[in-house]
Parts: sequence; C-alpha cells; structure tokens
Amino acid sequence: MKNQEIKFQNKSEKYSIFIGENSINLLPKKIKNLCPETKKIGVIVDKNIPSKYKQILKKKLKGYDVSFLQFLANEKNKSLKKTYSLLNILLSKNLNRSDLIIGFGGGITGDVASFVASIFKRGINFINIPTTLLAQVDSSIGGKTGVNSNHGKNLIGSFYQPKLVLIDTTFLKSLPRKEMICGYAEILKHSIIKDKIFFNWLKKNTKSILDKKKKELIYSIKKSCQIKMFFVKQDTTEKNLRMTLNFGHTFAHAIEVKNNYSKKSTHGEAVLSGMILASKFSVYKKLCSSQTLKEIKNIYIQNNLDYTYKKYSNRKEIDKLLPFLKNDKKNNDGRINFILLKRIGKTTLSNQNKISLKHLKSITKTIAQY
Ligand SMILES: NC(=O)c1ccc[n+]([C@@H]2O[C@H](COP(=O)([O-])OP(=O)(O)OC[C@H]3O[C@@H](n4cnc5c(N)ncnc54)[C@H](O)[C@@H]3O)[C@@H](O)[C@H]2O)c1
Repeated sequence: MKNQEIKFQNKSEKYSIFIGENSINLLPKKIKNLCPETKKIGVIVDKNIPSKYKQILKKKLKGYDVSFLQFLANEKNKSLKKTYSLLNILLSKNLNRSDLIIGFGGGITGDVASFVASIFKRGINFINIPTTLLAQVDSSIGGKTGVNSNHGKNLIGSFYQPKLVLIDTTFLKSLPRKEMICGYAEILKHSIIKDKIFFNWLKKNTKSILDKKKKELIYSIKKSCQIKMFFVKQDTTEKNLRMTLNFGHTFAHAIEVKNNYSKKSTHGEAVLSGMILASKFSVYKKLCSSQTLKEIKNIYIQNNLDYTYKKYSNRKEIDKLLPFLKNDKKNNDGRINFILLKRIGKTTLSNQNKISLKHLKSITKTIAQY
C-alpha cells in the first residue's frame, strides 16, 4: 500500500506527514530534500523501543554523523532537568542550526525532543518519528512541545513545527495493548468531535484497530491526523478552536493528577473516562441527547472498554475529582472551561461552558446516574 500523505500549511509553516507500513524508507530522501545542509544528526530515542527498530533507523541515517541519545520515557523525565542534559550533550557534539534532531519514540520522547529542538540554538531542524499509537494520531501532530513542572503537566513549552512526521505502523508491532488503547482513545475523540461517518466506521472497526490490522490501523491513523490538522491549521497557537481537541481532557487531567499519574490508569484510559463524563455533563445541560451518550457507551461496551467509566457511575468518585479540576491550565478565571458535546461530530466552542466548582458539585449526583 502506498504511503498516505497529509500536508500541513498555515501562514508561516509547511510540512508533510507520511503514514504507512515501512514509511521509514522515505527518510534518507526526505532528509536530503528538507535539510540539505545537515551533516550531524542527534536522535533522541526512547530507551524502551526494541533495538531492532533502532537498527532500522540507524541504517537509514548512513552517511551522517549520528549520535543516539537514549531517553527513558516517563513523566518524571519529561522535565527541564532532562532537557538541559540533552541540550548539553548536543552542544558538546557541536550540532548547528542546519543540522537535525530526530525524536524517535512515544509522546513523551516526542514532546521532549521537539522542545529541545525548538530551543537548541533558537531552533534546529526537527523530524518526528512517533512509535506509539497515541503519538502517531495525536502528539506528533500540531507542534506543541513541552515538559512538566512541579506545578503541573506540560506547563513549560513552545509551539514548534517539525520538518516532517514519519508514521510507520511497523513500529507498533511491539506496542502493548494498554498503549494501543491509549492511542485509540484519541482516535475515538477525534471522531466524536468532528466526524460522524468516521464514528460509525469505528463502531465496526475498533477491534481491528486494537488488534493492529494493517488496513484499519492505517485508515484510522490517517483520519485521526486529518481531524487534528483541521483544528490545528485554523488555530495553531490554541487561542480558541484548537481547544475543541480538549474534549474529555478536563476530567482526564483531574483523573491523572488524582492518581498521581500512576501507570494503573494510563492517559488514554483517563481520556476514555473523561469523554463519558463530559458527555454525561452535556446530557445534563440538554446539549446532547441521552441516545448519543448511549451510542458512545456502546462502543466502549462492545470493545471491553467500559471499565474506564463504570467507576464514575458513583457520585462520590466524581466528587473526588473536583478538587483536581482547578489546576487545569486551560482554566483562566477560576471557573472550569468545558468542551461539551452537541451531537456526534459537533461540540460546543471553548468558553461557552464555564462552570464553577460549586455548581459542578451540586450536579454530580444527577450526572452519576446517566
Ligand atoms: N504534544 C501534544 O500535542 C500532545 C498531545 C497528546 C499527548 N501528549 C503527551 O504525550 C505523552 C504520552 O505519550 P505516549 O502515550 O506515547 O506515552 P510514552 O511516550 O510514555 O509511551 C508509552 C510507553 O510505550 C513505550 N514505547 C514507545 N514506543 C514503543 C514501541 N514501539 N514498542 C513498545 N513500547 C514502546 C514507551 O517507552 C513508554 O513506556 C504525554 O506526556 C502527553 O502529555 C502530547
């Protein structure tokens, strides 16, 4: 199957995303075209990905002066401290702005590598090669880079677009199912916020995606990237429309913070819970029908993902999340800014549904029952 190409272009930047099995084969030619003056390459590589994948990449970079910088991907290492140490290694190797940094790993590696690239000598060429489903359908698209701080997740960062994103589904072969679910949560989110036809397609094909069936996987990644691009193109620096992509994430962040980012519940699972809570809230606000909520729940039930929301049929469990909603960086006036659902494919806009914690607390009993 031919590689699929999606083009990004806004007022100032332009790049392509290639999706396919073995799309990595495009790399040598693309580097020559996009970064013709590159001599040195720093690859920030996720320590956990199988070494055979690293060997594949190494072969593609033959002829360049390549340094592999091993990075242990976890939220603790997604830090300024780690960024500083990576920058120092790259500085000691004497890379300059016409050289290249490649991020090779999941969303954490990609966020850190792109952040490093954005501040290294005020910006060096960057190519992202995402190796988790979440990174392939979400974090590698849109140019948000960053690290965590003691005050919260992703609070330090920049907007920086790559020269190229290469999505090679071969690298997903080693990805555990729990991580597949993580990426799937964002795929489902994209369909819910923008594309009813894609949502209906997911009703039939979710199992094939989670089972890594090539055709369905590539199609769902492509659709997902296109939907994310739709929002990013119009609002690259997240002033308004791009916030639609936060559907389900306000509750998801609260779940993650409350659980101290424990691996017991992954980001994707928190997003799956968060989307149900946001949909329940939408029903309460009479923005969407209970039938829509049921349709969404059905996809979860049919694919054994309903464990992610069952807990929140209990008012006390929702109440426990409320204190953690406060720290969401998208909340700028004390009230919580929710993206809510009108119907499959259509949400409210950012800032249309701001709600105080006090008000939220008064309705959790009702929401829990939906
Ligand atoms: N920049 C953005 O727009 C954006 C959007 C969404 C999420 N994010 C960020 O993405 C991060 C989550 O990304 P993630 O879910 O990819 O997590 P991750 O990077 O931690 O990867 C998940 C796990 O899979 C391992 N892994 C990576 N590739 C593998 C492979 N091919 N085979 C086997 N194991 C592999 C990793 O080492 C890690 O243990 C979060 O920090 C989140 O904030 C950023």
